[in-house]
Amino acid sequence: MRFDIMTIFPDLLESPLNEGIIRRARAAGILEIKSHNIRDFALDKHAMTDDRPFGGGEGMVMKPEPLADALQTVSAERAGGHVVLLSPQGRPYNQALAAELAEYEHLILICGRYEGIDDRLADYIDEEVSIGDYVLTGGELPAMVLIDSISRLLPGVLGCENSASRDSFSCGLLKHPQFTRPRVFAGREVPEVLMSGDHQAIRRWRLAQSVKRTRVRRPDLLAGAQFSAEELKDLRAEGIETSGLRPETTEVRLDVALVHYPVCNKNKEIIGSAITNLDLHDIARASATYGVGTYYVVTPYEDQQRLAMEIIEHWRQGFGAVYNPDRGQALAKVAVVDSLESLFKEAGNRGSRYHVMATTAAHGAATIGYNQARQRVAAGERTLLLFGTGWGLAAEIMSQVDDVLPPLGGKGYNHLSVRSAVSIILDRLLASE
Ligand code: ADE
Repeated sequence: MRFDIMTIFPDLLESPLNEGIIRRARAAGILEIKSHNIRDFALDKHAMTDDRPFGGGEGMVMKPEPLADALQTVSAERAGGHVVLLSPQGRPYNQALAAELAEYEHLILICGRYEGIDDRLADYIDEEVSIGDYVLTGGELPAMVLIDSISRLLPGVLGCENSASRDSFSCGLLKHPQFTRPRVFAGREVPEVLMSGDHQAIRRWRLAQSVKRTRVRRPDLLAGAQFSAEELKDLRAEGIETSGLRPETTEVRLDVALVHYPVCNKNKEIIGSAITNLDLHDIARASATYGVGTYYVVTPYEDQQRLAMEIIEHWRQGFGAVYNPDRGQALAKVAVVDSLESLFKEAGNRGSRYHVMATTAAHGAATIGYNQARQRVAAGERTLLLFGTGWGLAAEIMSQVDDVLPPLGGKGYNHLSVRSAVSIILDRLLASE
């Protein structure tokens, strides 16, 4: 895996990157880490990388040009890196995010300084990450936190392949207590079971200790943890109260987006279409029926966005909420966004990338069948189902999606309304048998 670090203090990172496990992983070729001094890309003779904020106020802001040039230089050397800005405004860092970032082959970490970076750099950044609700003088230490925690998840970095999978947090629990020699220390003996050689008993004891410890120290973690039927049985055998523990389930994580731009008209020209009350209501109702997370209405037009919000608010908070509260519950699923790009970016900031599946009425474009798509969704894969209004999604969208589902119907007439198509496809993907 490769890390590129964009910083104005490369020396700050020298020692942590050249000691212990990280040094060994670099020497073994598992990690490639390069620091880049943003100052080298400054435009003026004083190598200025910051300037006063427009509109006044405290502190200095990182200038856009040096950082943009530094990023372009790194990308020219190796394209396709995932760009992460370390900042207190980012998505909170945890073990799950470390595991997610460990999937990338190339991460570019930007260490912010001063009062932040010029907001026009947003297009250069894939996500923002914060290591906690406190403010440091810069992103260098957070970058080290990411590199350290991600590296130890890579195969071959830790001595024992399994030790990262038994960490605290990796299964939603704190780690059990550990003991080493001597057997008696300060009058306290090592628990008997650990000396028994009975690996099943040791596993059960450790699980029980993890649950006890997490219950006392981090009840918030325990509330999110899931337990297999076998684990619950083992815990009961160890005398642990299991009534508050959640059994394992696979959560469906499917969102729907109805795109109003860019779509085609009947002459295959790119147009933007108008929002309809019918699509808002019916797709929201189908989404609520089948357990869809969010129904995104995608339109760049401000008047259309306002119209959609007015309708939604009428049913959520206005007279509609009194007249028919169920409808308000369905319309609460709707979120209005200006583009698919901002939707993907927002999803990235919240921590997950979508598997994007487009739908089309055209024959010959399908790359995945309904059975396979249903299995992927059932396995808990985060999925976005894209539907186009008008005569369907523009080619520029179709070329970016991960998969295309086959068209519905097949008896000649090919003009199913988009809201009908949404209901049918949701039933194929999500209906219980
Ligand atoms: N830069 C300053 N404070 C930070 C934090 N808490 N997380 C990430 N980057 C930061």
